Amino acid sequence: MKIEILTIFPGMLEGPFGESMIRRAVERGLVEIEIIDLRSFASGRHRQVDDAPYGGGRGMVFKPEPLFKAVETLQERSGGSRARVILLTPQGRTFNQEIARELSGEKRLLLICGRYEGVDERVREVLVDDEISIGDYILTGGELAAAVVVDAVVRLLPGFLEEASVAEESFSGFLLEYPHYTRPPVFRGMAVPPVLLSGDHAAIARWRRKQALLRTRQRRPDLLEKAALSPEDRRLLKEMKL
Ligand code: ADE
Repeated sequence: MKIEILTIFPGMLEGPFGESMIRRAVERGLVEIEIIDLRSFASGRHRQVDDAPYGGGRGMVFKPEPLFKAVETLQERSGGSRARVILLTPQGRTFNQEIARELSGEKRLLLICGRYEGVDERVREVLVDDEISIGDYILTGGELAAAVVVDAVVRLLPGFLEEASVAEESFSGFLLEYPHYTRPPVFRGMAVPPVLLSGDHAAIARWRRKQALLRTRQRRPDLLEKAALSPEDRRLLKEMKL
């Protein structure tokens, strides 16, 4: 997969992709991430990318010319394969695991980091295939949102995770994680649940599934409704209601 990100603040994105597992994915060739300075497509001495809104009001709006030039140049540069163009904006559909999965099937993504005040509407109408928000709050711009989307998408690429852990999530819904423990077995008087030390793998798997169901029901009942539950899961949930 190739991901191109258009931004006026390239420095904001270098950190998130230069560390940790995303960096490893890049090094292993699972994904190519290119951060592109929108200003390099702006003309004039000041390379101006934004301007005051027609009709007045606060803030600045991204001008159409640099964005059209950037997107058209990037689309042409790569020959036949057209990237899916996504604008990060609070007005977009709310990002979730299902959308992450959908995007992970694309060959090329081109993410446009908008500024909070906005982007000329003609960009939306003509250039953009999809608009995504990462939640109902306002960021100063789309850069952190792009980092979130890239992180969630890249970890789903084939070869990134062990096949088994991806398969566990492969439904549109997912459960919250069961509680995790590591050494020592007793810390400040708090003991690890004995089943985890029992060596009984079937009992451990049952305990974990039950905890995941319980936790999801307590904290995110909305996720439970979307999750693919087995008859055994339903039996466990009933049991826990008592
Ligand atoms: N830009 C500003 N706020 C945003 C949000 N919540 N999601 C995506 N892009 C944004």
